[in-house]
Amino acid sequence: MGTSATLTLGNHTLELPVIEGTVGPKVVDVRSLYATTGAFTYDPGFTSTASTASQITYIDGDAGVLLHRGYPIDQLAEQSTFMEVCYLLLNGDLPTADELAKFNYLITRHTMVHEQLMSFYSGFRRDAHPMAIMCGVVGALSAFYHDSTDIADPHQRVVASHRLIAKMPTIAAMAYKYAIGQPFLYPDNSLSYVGNFLRMTFGVPAEPYEVNPVIERALDRIFILHADHEQNASTSTVRLAGSSGANPFACIAAGIACLWGPAHGGANEEALKMLREIGRPERIPEYIARAKNKNDPFRLMGFGHRVYKNYDPRAKVMQQTAAEVLDELKLDNPIFDVARELERIALSDEYFIEKKLYPNVDFYSGIILSAIGFPTTMFTALFALARTVGWVAQWNEMIADPEQKIGRPRQLYTGPTQRDYVPLDQR
Ligand code: SDX
Repeated sequence: MGTSATLTLGNHTLELPVIEGTVGPKVVDVRSLYATTGAFTYDPGFTSTASTASQITYIDGDAGVLLHRGYPIDQLAEQSTFMEVCYLLLNGDLPTADELAKFNYLITRHTMVHEQLMSFYSGFRRDAHPMAIMCGVVGALSAFYHDSTDIADPHQRVVASHRLIAKMPTIAAMAYKYAIGQPFLYPDNSLSYVGNFLRMTFGVPAEPYEVNPVIERALDRIFILHADHEQNASTSTVRLAGSSGANPFACIAAGIACLWGPAHGGANEEALKMLREIGRPERIPEYIARAKNKNDPFRLMGFGHRVYKNYDPRAKVMQQTAAEVLDELKLDNPIFDVARELERIALSDEYFIEKKLYPNVDFYSGIILSAIGFPTTMFTALFALARTVGWVAQWNEMIADPEQKIGRPRQLYTGPTQRDYVPLDQR
């Protein structure tokens, strides 16, 4: 018999079941609370709320641990590939060589988009933010792939999952090409997932494109670091949209919209802008002071996290990767020096220590992406590209969950009580 939590509210005393997972915080099951007591729990921002049970990703924020289906992120980043991590997130185990080859084949054959989808791009201004284009174009996939929108059909769910993972690089590369006025390149299925993306982004029809293996490996690792992250804001958005029965393309478009926010996936773009604005190590103290000033809305972008109260393990790998890429490209990047100095100063400052603010996944990623040649406006689009597999894995898990029902939170009402209408001539 599991344990329970006793709650006394007015003249009600109830025993709420306490449920333990395989690891991490246990949960108090409050599903009977409203029916029994007429009261709701209150948790804006869901700081103490588990919205679901899940077997995909586990984060220990205090220890700075991130596991995907039990495998530590640093081992996956070091030894695995993004395609292998996609298989792991979707299917629960690392693939055999044969399973991986088959998965690669399936994904590769979905990399093209419907030819008519290209005309969607010409409807945007050339200076449209790539995330605006991603929201629009991914949502529009619902209008093209009707044979994979029936969420009740497991086969259609698999096809939609593969289509989304396979087409995001093509859609993101097209957003970049459109912005710079260059022609779209079709996918080249002889290349790796990342190599194909690099060629569609930086290649031109006028000459062959040579994939740099060091850059290819670095970007593959960056995609692994962004693949999934438990019930973050955009994943929760995808789950909530999916709980109504919306089709998978609409759900992922909702996730893209949420990720765009500067407090979430938009932070990588803001972090590099901030580092460029600081410009030199001697200006760091001024920005540290601003971050601590309650009257200043400025925050150190790329720092802090709702869950990590220790170093984000992804940021560690990201910093190592930044050094590798800058070394490979023989780039002397003063912004990287500013970032490392900012981290050093912040981590020895009482304010950041007391509030447990550490660099997160977004702090160093922009330095690498900029060195590879991406404009800052593409950073969050790359985050969305990589996170699509996590959103899709969590969406599939949500649909298969027998406990799942439409998400419909309640509220604490603080508005006016009932009052009668006052005719206009009497106001
Ligand atoms: C991602 O959830 C995920 O898993 C997200 C993500 C993923 O993979 O999906 O990890 C990706 O979104 C990473 C986070 C990227 N965002 C940023 O880097 C933006 C800057 N960071 C913050 O805005 C903030 O840290 C959040 C949004 C990330 C977390 O905010 P919380 O958990 O709601 O914490 P909070 O805003 O309540 O801050 C707690 C305290 C506050 O001070 P007090 O009001 O208690 O005095 O810490 C301060 C904040 O003012 N604080 C910061 C700060 N972050 C928090 N102060 C200065 N600089 C910062 N960056």
